[in-house]
Amino acid sequence: MTNQNKIAVVTGSNRGLGYAISRKLSQIGIHVVITSRNETDGLTVKQQLSSEGLDVNYHILDVASDESVRNFTQWLTDTYGSVDILVNNAGINPTVQPEESSLLTVKLETMRSTFDTNVIAVLRISQALIPLMKVKNYGRIVNVSTEMASLATTPHDFYPLAPSYRLSKLGVNGLTVLLAKELHGTNILVNAYSPGWMKTDMGGEDAPFTPEEGAETAVYLATLPDGGAQGLFFAEMRKFGGPIQLPW
Ligand SMILES: NC(=O)c1ccc[n+]([C@@H]2O[C@H](COP(=O)([O-])OP(=O)(O)OC[C@H]3O[C@@H](n4cnc5c(N)ncnc54)[C@H](OP(=O)(O)O)[C@@H]3O)[C@@H](O)[C@H]2O)c1
Repeated sequence: MTNQNKIAVVTGSNRGLGYAISRKLSQIGIHVVITSRNETDGLTVKQQLSSEGLDVNYHILDVASDESVRNFTQWLTDTYGSVDILVNNAGINPTVQPEESSLLTVKLETMRSTFDTNVIAVLRISQALIPLMKVKNYGRIVNVSTEMASLATTPHDFYPLAPSYRLSKLGVNGLTVLLAKELHGTNILVNAYSPGWMKTDMGGEDAPFTPEEGAETAVYLATLPDGGAQGLFFAEMRKFGGPIQLPW
């Protein structure tokens, strides 16, 4: 299938990494559905990308809401009948508050809300859109994770403990492996990747890299050839000059 025939959905595309991924995918000819939980923010992005001559559409989508995902899926079905690419980018990291940075003091409510947005929501939108990928037996699902969720390196890394964030992204990684196992034998490929530390509202000003750089691996995974990677965890390509796998 050529890029020109593909439809992509990117969650949380109104700013940061989601915006950069949406822009890059549309720059290579893919029709991107910009989504955001705030309609004004998303429509501004749609207008901005359209003014650059890019082929984008927009629909409101709060991935943490059953009703919003239901309405979005109905609209997608009525408008396109199928979907080819899903980038699960939307996420939160509430660990900036000091009490949220220790397992001994983190609020259980913070754990719940972080899991709700970062893990359950990824499952919710995947459950909703995979049937639309099965229509053409074609799908690429890209789950945005972080190398902070690599269990192999966690005992020795220098990142903040960030318990709710790390544990939620471990959930994303686990979901990726299980979903890939369940989709084995189909042409729906699901992978996770770490975009690296980027200058976004979440990453802050001190981050060394731009969201555009962080978006590179997402584009690679969103456009994998048939028979490509399934159920794997990738690093940011910018750092290594090509697709490199991370240990779970
Ligand atoms: N920045 C980094 O250094 C870094 C490193 C590793 C991984 N990541 C991952 O990269 C992804 C994007 O992060 P970012 O740095 O671009 O963060 P960001 O600038 O804070 O943007 C987060 C995006 O997620 C959206 N979002 C949050 N909850 C949502 C919901 N319930 N429904 C729909 N959209 C929702 C936000 O929408 P609103 O504008 O409405 O809040 C926003 O568009 C996240 O999964 C993050 O964990 C980031």
